[in-house]
Amino acid sequence: MSNIEKKADATWALRLSELEIGDEEIQSVVDVLESDWLTMGPRTEAFEVAFAQFLNVKHAIAVTNATAALHLAHHVHDIGPGDEVICPSLTFIATANSILYTGATPVFAEITSEKDFNLDPNDVERRITSRTKGIVVLHYAGYCAAMDRIKEIADRHGLYLIEDAAHAPGSELGGRKLGTIGDVGCFSFFSNKNMSTGEGGLVVTNSDQLADRIRRARSHSMTSFTWDRVRGHAHSYDVVDLGFNYRIDEIRSAIGFTQLGRLSKNNDRRKALMEKYLTELRQIDKIAVPFDPADGISACHICPLLLAQEIDRAAFMNGMKERGIQTSIHYPPVHLFSYYRDRFGFQEGMLPLTEMVTRREVTLPLYPGMHDEDVIRVVGALVDTLATTPSNGGVNGT
Ligand SMILES: Cc1ncc(COP(=O)(O)O)c(C=O)c1O
Repeated sequence: MSNIEKKADATWALRLSELEIGDEEIQSVVDVLESDWLTMGPRTEAFEVAFAQFLNVKHAIAVTNATAALHLAHHVHDIGPGDEVICPSLTFIATANSILYTGATPVFAEITSEKDFNLDPNDVERRITSRTKGIVVLHYAGYCAAMDRIKEIADRHGLYLIEDAAHAPGSELGGRKLGTIGDVGCFSFFSNKNMSTGEGGLVVTNSDQLADRIRRARSHSMTSFTWDRVRGHAHSYDVVDLGFNYRIDEIRSAIGFTQLGRLSKNNDRRKALMEKYLTELRQIDKIAVPFDPADGISACHICPLLLAQEIDRAAFMNGMKERGIQTSIHYPPVHLFSYYRDRFGFQEGMLPLTEMVTRREVTLPLYPGMHDEDVIRVVGALVDTLATTPSNGGVNGT
């Protein structure tokens, strides 16, 4: 860590997340730099093969980030102006923006409950119209959305199903890895994710046809790539569809390959830390932990909790900060961002449950390098902070 970073870090005794980068990642980057080939090539292919094997899925296609992955997933379903895609509002902005990139319109559906922040299948079905073409689910914090129900609804209505699995590399439901249940799954390797390449993403699918189109659209829908031409496999190329430059490079693929090797061990550590959190947090009044109990196996990307409605969240987060603990919010609701309000006329009250949860959610530190004592420290700070946080008269409530 540089001195500048150490200075920034002095604010926090415990940060929200920390990278797990070791000598192997450093060596893998050095190897790439010495290899004379930096853009998409053999290391990307090796990363894709390893990721596909890990998920037990037919095709894995590495791209520049998960936003690009999501855009490609919609793009290859040929949606456009006049079409609708149902998605959560309790998600990162990329889930919804990637629908807008195609010209189609996101239709926001409610979460299931205060205990389950994932899409409510009943509300998804209620929002289906003659214009609906697809559904995107988020596996919030790595916990499985109601995939069996939502897949059944998608199949019955002839809709495609995309999994935003940015939080869920290694999560499972009934022996199936999340990201492989819908038509297309999208992963992120952004800095704070369970595995990171700095920026990076990946698309998975079991469909040969979708994989062909996604693989091509990642690189301008050209019929051959620079790497093919260097190997003498092609002399020229055609452009057969509208494509993009969503290529990853060898540096990030090499880091991704190494990070994938650490993923299961790191996820196990996250799970153990989450269990420890749960044991402690279950005993505390004025908070609740969602997804307890959870379906399937979570990659435990983050540790979310719900404050009682009378707790002033900003004051609580400041109190944690004074005690050296970084907290965060996952997420402000997408439908109430200025851009979405201005463009679509959305207003508060449109998704009451989502809005209530997004006013009260707070995320605690969780990363594999944390010690058991760090969990105790966070929970101790939380108890002290709750004891001194003023009431806001319940304005966070429904
Ligand atoms: C749920 C979710 N979807 C999509 C993304 C977009 O990922 P990326 O930053 O790799 O584009 C993120 C990243 O933060 C995310 O958390």
